[in-house]
Amino acid sequence: MGQKTNLYFTLLFVYLCWGQRSNPDGERSSCNKCDLQLTCNCSYGRFTHVPMVTDRALTLDLSFNDITGVTSYDLTGHRRLRALSLHGNRVATIHPSAFDSLWSLEELDLSDNQLTALNHKWFRNLEALQKLNLLNNPYSCLGSHPVFQRLVRLRRLGFGGPALEELKRGDLSGVTELEELTVHGNNLKSYESGALGDVWPLGRVTLSLHGPFLTNTALASAVLADVTYPETPLILEDLHLIGNKSVQPFRASAKRRVRKMAFNNLFASDEAIVNILVALDGVPVTSLSMDGVTLTGEGRWEAAKQTDQKSIDEFFVRNVVVLNIFKFVSFLQLGFMLEYPRKVSVINSRVYVMPCNTSHLLSNLQYLDLSDNLLTDLTLAETMCNGDGTMKDLRVLNVSGNALKSFSTVSRQVTKLSKLTHLDISRTGYSSMPEGCSWPSTLRYLNISRAKLTTITPCLPATLEVLDLSNNDLKDFMLILPALRELHLSGNKLLKLPPGWLFPNLQTLTIQANTLNRFDRADLQSYGRLQDLWAGQNKFACSCDFVHFLQSGIKGGEDVHLADGEESYVCDSPLYLQGQPVAQVQLSIVVCQRVLFVSVSCGVALFVGILLCVLLWRLHAFWYVKMTWAWLRAKRSSLRRRHRRDRSGSEELLSYDAFVSYSERDASWVENCLVPELEEPRENDEDSVDQRTLRPLTLCLHKRDFLPGHWIVDNIMSAMERSRRTVFVLSENFVQSDWCRYELDFSHFQLFDGNAGGDTAILILLEPLSKDDIPKRFCKLRKLMSSTTYLEWPQDEERSGEFWRSLRHALRGEDEDDY
Ligand SMILES: *[C@@H]1O[C@H](CO)[C@@H](O)[C@H](O)[C@H]1NC(C)=O
Ligand SMILES: *[C@@H]1O[C@H](CO)[C@@H](O)[C@H](O)[C@H]1NC(C)=O
Ligand SMILES: *[C@@H]1O[C@H](CO)[C@@H](O)[C@H](O)[C@H]1NC(C)=O
Ligand SMILES: *[C@@H]1O[C@H](CO)[C@@H](O)[C@H](O)[C@H]1NC(C)=O
Ligand SMILES: *[C@@H]1O[C@H](CO)[C@@H](O)[C@H](O)[C@H]1NC(C)=O
Repeated sequence: MGQKTNLYFTLLFVYLCWGQRSNPDGERSSCNKCDLQLTCNCSYGRFTHVPMVTDRALTLDLSFNDITGVTSYDLTGHRRLRALSLHGNRVATIHPSAFDSLWSLEELDLSDNQLTALNHKWFRNLEALQKLNLLNNPYSCLGSHPVFQRLVRLRRLGFGGPALEELKRGDLSGVTELEELTVHGNNLKSYESGALGDVWPLGRVTLSLHGPFLTNTALASAVLADVTYPETPLILEDLHLIGNKSVQPFRASAKRRVRKMAFNNLFASDEAIVNILVALDGVPVTSLSMDGVTLTGEGRWEAAKQTDQKSIDEFFVRNVVVLNIFKFVSFLQLGFMLEYPRKVSVINSRVYVMPCNTSHLLSNLQYLDLSDNLLTDLTLAETMCNGDGTMKDLRVLNVSGNALKSFSTVSRQVTKLSKLTHLDISRTGYSSMPEGCSWPSTLRYLNISRAKLTTITPCLPATLEVLDLSNNDLKDFMLILPALRELHLSGNKLLKLPPGWLFPNLQTLTIQANTLNRFDRADLQSYGRLQDLWAGQNKFACSCDFVHFLQSGIKGGEDVHLADGEESYVCDSPLYLQGQPVAQVQLSIVVCQRVLFVSVSCGVALFVGILLCVLLWRLHAFWYVKMTWAWLRAKRSSLRRRHRRDRSGSEELLSYDAFVSYSERDASWVENCLVPELEEPRENDEDSVDQRTLRPLTLCLHKRDFLPGHWIVDNIMSAMERSRRTVFVLSENFVQSDWCRYELDFSHFQLFDGNAGGDTAILILLEPLSKDDIPKRFCKLRKLMSSTTYLEWPQDEERSGEFWRSLRHALRGEDEDDY
């Protein structure tokens, strides 16, 4: 579907570009309002010349512009053009070969222009032409040469206008058979009998002969005689019938057994009506129709009482204006002819009542249309003779567009019409219905559209096959209608489709322009027989289910046909989709598979989290973090201490010679060997060179010298600060003990700080330990081991003296230079 649309757009684009490009000289304006069916509608474009249009156009509408002429080249190349309209311009000149290339032209409309003469050469190549409209141009005759000679396919022809004065025999030569002929000859002065007489069969004739009927009835008679055939409906327009004389032409038609007569825009006196009826006395007229009638009389038509109107079957009156409404007697005067027709329509004629006596006369009536009148509940009761079943053959009753309010009244009035099948009570004022009503058992069709109903009740008959409730105020529909085939609910306020099990036989459902949010496959499947659904123009919430369902439905995956076309289904929510046709919506998987998406992304996040944790653990990140944090705290308190010291002006106090960092497990060695050896030097040490070297050293041991109650890292920090050196007793134990790690690292940080020399740290290896035995994360220790010489605790006793000497030496280190 999407691809197709794209293709269309591409094509359209190509046409548009093309339309614009084809303007080489810049003089002729161009029109590119062509649609996909290649219909170019350039009406109301203020063109003064025929504009350039793609020559692939099939239909060209140039109506209502200011075009004054058609030149020989204006339409060259339009070989495909089927329909051309120049209606409503000011075309005065058309070049004889202007239409020469229009080989395919089927319809040509030149009506309402300024053509003062017709030229047969225009039409010489239009052999495909079927419909030609030349009405309302100021030509007075059709020309010396038969203009329509070459139009062998012509089926619909209209010509004439206010200026037409003359029609001669042979004017229509070449025209043989017509479906429709329209002649405007309101000012016709001369008519050669037979001028229109050669056309047969003739489908339908419309004549405007205002002037001839008033002043030249012989001419009018001649025209009517030429075009009247029993099977040809005759429509007479713009007649002004006053006296006996103006009606005489009908005798010509009467003679030729006219069957269907219609008057449009008729102005008639009582006398004229009577005379028409007299003229048609005994003529098998079956249908008499008047649209737009002004009656100047008082309805005194009894004079025609004796005429024979038995064959009249259909009587249609619309838009009747009675000038003397207060003197008007009523249609009852036509009683003599009311017993025959089966079909009577009196539409929009301000009828406020049809008296019961009139209804009695309508004994053959099967179809009564009183729509758009002034009936009320009361006068409807009179018209229906209080529901006593007068008009017993009535099958169709149309009282649409009247001021009716009581639903129970209408049901009461028709309940005895035992043949009634159709009831049209649309466009009325019904706002509620009673719980129960009785209807004729034959009623199949009920139209209550455009009323004001808010609810429906079991008052509606179960026999209905077609029910129109569109454009009411219904909020739901819950009523079992087993026979229903068509249900119209458009223009209400329904939130959802009515359940399908209510209507086992429903085939068509229209529910456009309601407030439906959605519907789904299950909803549609509940309708056993639904074929066509019209549900566009609703407030659709474009959820994934709905979009998916509708898109697959549009593609024909469903049994139900969305009859109103995909473009009627437009999203109303969510906001970012508002206004988009559902068929074109593309929802992402994030929106549509939310649960799946959330669980998958949670899973992934969890997995990544775990992976990260494992990784961090493997890289000892926690240890580093802990260390950094501890160090930062210690650093801060150390800084604070230094500040305090600076403020009080006291010098940095070096209380210890060395801070000994060791593992708890090496404590015995430290306490039993290291401490005694350094803090209580033996006098008899033979290697002692001078007194100074034998000076006791003060050591800081965390066990012994840390202030209880202080945080351990603080303690370590301050111990280191107050010690000249830091001795690391390295062993497997050291490496595995956390305390030592802290200490070691702090020492490193201090080393980094640069406020101590590179030999602040002294390493003692209690057991042989290579650099590689130290875990990689102690990179600083490793570095230290490679940069600083370390002392190894000798495995054999004899060499311990040398060890202690070296250690003392290292501990005193620089001091010796200072002293
Ligand atoms: C062109 O548009 C006018 C209204 O703008 C419309 O009345 C007419 O029917 C259109 N003609 C065709 C051929 O569709
Ligand atoms: C009308 O005129 C015709 C013939 O001219 C005549 O036969 C007829 O009686 C007249 N009708 C009336 C009502 O004057
Ligand atoms: C209706 O007809 C009856 C007799 O057929 C008559 O008595 C009555 O006056 C008529 N009513 C009207 C309003 O003409
Ligand atoms: C009743 O009249 C209205 C208006 O004239 C028309 O639209 C409608 O189709 C008619 N109904 C029937 C059932 O003929
Ligand atoms: C019901 O009546 C309305 C208005 O008169 C008309 O437009 C509509 O087509 C009718 N419905 C049916 C189903 O004929």
